Amino acid sequence: MRIDIITVHPQLLESPFSHSILKRATEKKLVEVNFINLRDYATNKHRSTDDYAFGGGAGMVMMIEPIDNCLKALKNERDYDEIIYMSPDGELLNQKIANQLSLYKNLILLCGHYKGVDERVRENLITREISIGNYVLSGGELAAAVLSDSIIRLLPGVLNDETSALSDSFQDDLIAPPVYTRPAKFGDWSVPEVLLSGNDKLISEWRHNQSVIRTKAKRPDLLNP
Ligand code: ADE
Repeated sequence: MRIDIITVHPQLLESPFSHSILKRATEKKLVEVNFINLRDYATNKHRSTDDYAFGGGAGMVMMIEPIDNCLKALKNERDYDEIIYMSPDGELLNQKIANQLSLYKNLILLCGHYKGVDERVRENLITREISIGNYVLSGGELAAAVLSDSIIRLLPGVLNDETSALSDSFQDDLIAPPVYTRPAKFGDWSVPEVLLSGNDKLISEWRHNQSVIRTKAKRPDLLNP
């Protein structure tokens, strides 16, 4: 899979992709993530990517021209499955969307800034808008990193234990069961006996029950959407 992230702040994105699972996924060539500096596609001598809003009002608006130039250059090289604008107005990211996007080959994530992008970009140049939550970030970069992480960890071969993404919270609309590691007894706090029993069937039943109990207690909205 290839993810091209269009941004005016490529440095903001470097760290999340340089550690741990995302780093390993890149090294194993299971994913290629590129940070594309929108300024490289600006047309004026100041390399501006934003301008004042027509009609007045506070806040700059990202211009259509550099974005169009950038998208044309990328689309010239390959076909994209989705061109996603990261925006608080978009559809709310959930596990189902991450699963769906993880099946694609080429994605573009466009990071917004300032007051947003010229509406003509949204109307004509993108295929989808995704939000990572009902709050406003200073820009789309952190949201793009979150979305990329949620996708990349699902790619075959990225996680050591291939089954572990399947047992994540949300994969079956249930949150994950509790997990424990050594020591089995820490002061008065003991690990549930069943987990030490070695009986796989009992353990898996216990885990499922715990998921149901936890989901009812903590996230009843998942059971009755
Ligand atoms: N850009 C600013 N806020 C955002 C959010 N909540 N989700 C996605 N992109 C954003």
